[in-house]
Amino acid sequence: MPLAVEFLEAGHEVVGIDVDHGRVQAIAAGVSDIEDIPSERLGAVVDRLTASTRYADLAGVDSAIIAVPTPLTGNREPDLGPLLSAGRALGGVLQRGQLVVLESTTYPGTTREQLAPLLEESGLKAGRDFNLAFSPERVDPGRTDYTLRNTPKVVGGLTEGCCERACALYREVCDEVVAVSTPDAAEMTKLLENIFRSVNIALVNELAMLADRMGMDIWEVVDAAATKPFGFMRFDPGPGMGGHCLPVDPFYLTWRAREFDMPTEFIELAGEVNQAMPYFCVEKISAALNDHSKAVRGSKLLIVGVSYKAGVGDLRESPALKIIRLLRERGAEISYHDPHVPELPDHGLHHQQLDHALDGCDCAVIVTAHPSLDLDTLIEQAPLVVDFRGVTRGKKAPHLVRL
Ligand SMILES: NC(=O)c1ccc[n+]([C@@H]2O[C@H](COP(=O)([O-])OP(=O)(O)OC[C@H]3O[C@@H](n4cnc5c(N)ncnc54)[C@H](O)[C@@H]3O)[C@@H](O)[C@H]2O)c1
Repeated sequence: MPLAVEFLEAGHEVVGIDVDHGRVQAIAAGVSDIEDIPSERLGAVVDRLTASTRYADLAGVDSAIIAVPTPLTGNREPDLGPLLSAGRALGGVLQRGQLVVLESTTYPGTTREQLAPLLEESGLKAGRDFNLAFSPERVDPGRTDYTLRNTPKVVGGLTEGCCERACALYREVCDEVVAVSTPDAAEMTKLLENIFRSVNIALVNELAMLADRMGMDIWEVVDAAATKPFGFMRFDPGPGMGGHCLPVDPFYLTWRAREFDMPTEFIELAGEVNQAMPYFCVEKISAALNDHSKAVRGSKLLIVGVSYKAGVGDLRESPALKIIRLLRERGAEISYHDPHVPELPDHGLHHQQLDHALDGCDCAVIVTAHPSLDLDTLIEQAPLVVDFRGVTRGKKAPHLVRL
């Protein structure tokens, strides 16, 4: 959607295909469900957008960009189902001279080995009759300083001609396009970026658990280290890694690496540490209640912020959901405050106003600190506050506990 809107705003016509009828109808009516694209912005260009569920509508386009989900299966292996079905459907309508670009995050080799053969079922040859490239999506939801326009776009084509064509396409909407030699290099670039974050978050999370045991304040240490002007990049500890990218994408490479007899230990270890964080958080909450002579069972706990990161309502892989489940298993009564998330249907919970939610609660747990959070009210009115985001640093009170 962000990409479609950029192309529309640059004056192009766009056909948007989705298998979700409801979504297609809403988008055709100018209603956006993507937080970064307000409906007014979509509405201003929707007359040049054809939203459809029919791949046949792609027959007349110059370029087709695939950005379907690439999740993991229950066994944590790549689930290429949506990608393969999109590729098959596109192969059925592909025309000579078209450009196809894959943007979904995936392991190196997917574009060449999985997508190209499906498109070639059209009878056309990739690199000769149609162009094929991979270009990773780098959108950071909720971010306003770096957008599609000013974030360099990496592109790898099957042939030089494919690369040039794809670069030309993205120059329409991106200030800088970075060409790499192959689709595989572009696929691997995206995974390096995500694994870099995952490993560094795990490192600081491990140090946070150690600092906790040593009775030290990890936030003071991170703040101090971050004053170094070179050779250090800040990563903050937290309740665990969320979103649909970091907890998922690195395992695409782990899976692929097995074919090459190569265990990717950094990736696995980072995954283990980050996945352990919600369990650590529950122990921390339990210890804080204990210090106030309370048990988890029967306590009224308010979870503050349930989306996976500040400023957005995205719940995918959010550590808050795991923390809620674990606390409920221990007998806690849970409510939550998150203006970005009106309800959690799977948990039978609704967002509560802060004042109301604090009334009678035993402990408020800051899992995600949205910019709008009224911290002073929270600290003033909650009998106990556990902060997993470090937003209370600098504040001292006997009822305040920090990661
Ligand atoms: N959203 C981001 O910020 C972001 C950032 C970087 C990378 N990515 C990558 O981009 C890809 C897509 O992510 P997303 O967040 O946009 O996913 P999403 O789940 O929000 O949206 C994908 C859309 O694809 C549709 N879809 C599924 N199968 C389809 C098919 N066969 N044909 C047509 N449409 C189909 C779904 O109905 C859905 O509307 C993933 O690989 C993700 O890792 C996303």
